[in-house]
Amino acid sequence: MIDNRRGRYPASPFFRMKRSLIFLFIFISTMLFAGGAEEETRIGVAIYDFDDSFITEVRNVITELSAEGIPVTVCDAEGKQQKQNSEIEDFIDKGYDAIIVNSVDRTASGVIIEKCRRSDVPLVFFNREPVREDMARWEKVYYVGSHAEDAGTIAADILAEYWLSHPSADKNGDGILQFVIIKGETGHQDTELRTEYFIETLLSAGIPLEKLHESSGEWKKDKGYDVMLDFLNRSGEQIEAVFANNDDMALGAIEALKEYGYFQDGAFMPVVGVDGTPQGRKALEDGTLLGTVYNDAYNQARAAYNIACILAEDGNPDSSSIGYEMDGKYVWIPHRRMQ
Ligand code: GAL
Ligand code: CA
Repeated sequence: MIDNRRGRYPASPFFRMKRSLIFLFIFISTMLFAGGAEEETRIGVAIYDFDDSFITEVRNVITELSAEGIPVTVCDAEGKQQKQNSEIEDFIDKGYDAIIVNSVDRTASGVIIEKCRRSDVPLVFFNREPVREDMARWEKVYYVGSHAEDAGTIAADILAEYWLSHPSADKNGDGILQFVIIKGETGHQDTELRTEYFIETLLSAGIPLEKLHESSGEWKKDKGYDVMLDFLNRSGEQIEAVFANNDDMALGAIEALKEYGYFQDGAFMPVVGVDGTPQGRKALEDGTLLGTVYNDAYNQARAAYNIACILAEDGNPDSSSIGYEMDGKYVWIPHRRMQ
């Protein structure tokens, strides 16, 4: 009966008031909730490829640090710049307060900087360095990395010491160091500079050199294996040393060398890498990797995250607020030798 009456007659003034109050309550709480969500500070992290071992270490540190600080959302561009561009647009649209970027193609940084500048979302690049002109496009752009030149120099020091203290390393006894290089991704600042400084340093140590082969293994272990196998097929016994631009490729090369009888029955090949990843350190202990150059994932991650946190809260990053020495908009984390 009661239900019938409600259906047929207009609601009583009291019921109408109650209904309006309920609507008002829902409206106010929705607004409050939406307002609250907007105020929550968040940092977006755009990674070039989750499969990269060294970058995975950096990414894991950022995630660990964020458990005690400003929350982060981490995306995987899977090596595709277009995918990364839309991930960054998404961070901007959702009102993220700062973005940490490990760009797929470092020459695409200009486009990313322009997008962020238009929406006033500050940026911290790391590991894949934008060119200076792009860095100069906007004041709220920073970079955290390490000096690739130093990595090349330290790698050469390791090999030079070995060469000078092991006369048997000159297998053909011609006084010349015949070597091969497995390079990282073409165009990456670390690939070009590590290689250049490696060669320069050996030459200035007075070691006559002959580069037998160089080829890119794109930072990957399986590619490092393929490249090394190819070098061995082409030059076999003539190879006296290997420099790989990172540990993953060095580990791939070591696998190929094992197939050729190295690292057993006294047959040794000096292989030097860069990064000091857990897998690389294991190879140092096993005695297969001669040496590596530590690429400090923890401090690169912490510096990038600290800068992003300050920017996200509208602060001004400087050496004392971020806890790392700043060189303008740059933070350089030193390399060190590992053997
Ligand atoms: C280098 C590192 C490589 C790879 C690359 C990705 O610094 O040595 O292993 O992670 O960065 O950009
Ligand atoms: Ca020789």
